[in-house]
Amino acid sequence: MDKLVIRGGRKLSGRLRVSGAKNGSLALMPATILAPGVYHLSNTPNLRDVRTMSQLLGSLGISCELKDNELLIDSSNINSFEAPYEHVKKMRASFYVLGPLVARFGEARVSLPGGCAWGPRPVDLHLKGLEKLGAEIQIDKGYIVARARKLTGAKFHLDISSVGATGNILMAAVLAKGTTLLSNAAAEPEITALAEMLVRMGARIDGIGTSMLEIEGVSQLKPTDHSTLPDRIEAATYLIATAMTGGNIEMENVNPSHLTSVIAKLEEAGCKIDVNGSSIRLEMDGPPNPTDIVTAVYPGIPTDIQAQWTAFMLCAGGTSRITDTVYHDRFKHVPELQRLGAGIEVHDNVAHVAGGRQLSGATVMSSDLRASASLILAALVAEGKTDVLRVYHLDRGYEAM
Ligand code: UD1
Repeated sequence: MDKLVIRGGRKLSGRLRVSGAKNGSLALMPATILAPGVYHLSNTPNLRDVRTMSQLLGSLGISCELKDNELLIDSSNINSFEAPYEHVKKMRASFYVLGPLVARFGEARVSLPGGCAWGPRPVDLHLKGLEKLGAEIQIDKGYIVARARKLTGAKFHLDISSVGATGNILMAAVLAKGTTLLSNAAAEPEITALAEMLVRMGARIDGIGTSMLEIEGVSQLKPTDHSTLPDRIEAATYLIATAMTGGNIEMENVNPSHLTSVIAKLEEAGCKIDVNGSSIRLEMDGPPNPTDIVTAVYPGIPTDIQAQWTAFMLCAGGTSRITDTVYHDRFKHVPELQRLGAGIEVHDNVAHVAGGRQLSGATVMSSDLRASASLILAALVAEGKTDVLRVYHLDRGYEAM
């Protein structure tokens, strides 16, 4: 798919079942490296990133077959410890294979991911953590080479509560000898889901869901079946989209507790929200109140909804401030939103959004996954036709938006 052509001005209304979480699957899939055998991962979304991870695991000798959102993985015959650049350059989450490969096989070669569309994204914490567990790390021709005869448990404090580094070090620590204490660990639901899957595989982990993880290494793990948690970013995107158009939605297969901060902000913006078990109903009448957000690690507002919230606030009757404390440069969507007539100024890591101007359709270009979503949301309320180009970014994280 090259572009989406959107004619704005219609209310969204209806029911929707939320998919399994992209970032959940991308953490669960590499965990299958840790124990040979067959795994069924249900509620797996059919997304490009999941296919990229399947290809990467395939290059290690792991077979992955996705049918009706059930992912069948067979990791019985791993025959390579190298994650090639061709996969890693497409998706940074490929870096997740580093920890489990070195933990199980004592050896891994993983291409360095490089930057991404909105700036540098280092992997220093992943490497420092693995070094703390006793891995020797070298860089060779653009690849990280990690070696360890046997990883040993250690104390490691993450200077930044990184999701990827927490997942990587956690997957290494479960097979290390002795106890690992990870402080300031990421407590994002996708990391909690990974820890829960590891426990089902036989790992010993205390403090799951908190920022202090204590891992008692075991000598071996066994395969398991696991269900992927619902995608909180997909859910938030559709809630915001519905609110922008003054519509109503009933959403199923969500975990509202993963969306506490987002729901609170939607309510502050004037949305009427009912939560009932695993469903959320949202109704919106009229323009939103200007509502500032500050992104933060979980349970704060996710950086992955910053771009969509910026689009939302274009409809507000006043000015709002959108601050991204996780990725300071993540504002690639702003110049494109400005092409639709948006009044936004960015100073440092804060977007000042002057709401209330009527947007008008134009041709705009997606630069990354969530930027694409924000352009589509803005197009829903723009007058006339908007062509959103390069929407292939969207297929990375939304199943047939
Ligand atoms: C994950 C998510 C991504 C989300 C991000 C923040 C996946 C596959 N992706 O990405 O959608 O936007 O969390 O919630 O789950 N950092 C370092 N050194 C490191 C690692 C990270 O300085 O070694 C910094 C980053 O530059 C960033 C912050 O830590 O400023 C958070 O990044 P991190 O949580 O690691 O993001 P990812 O795991 O890459």
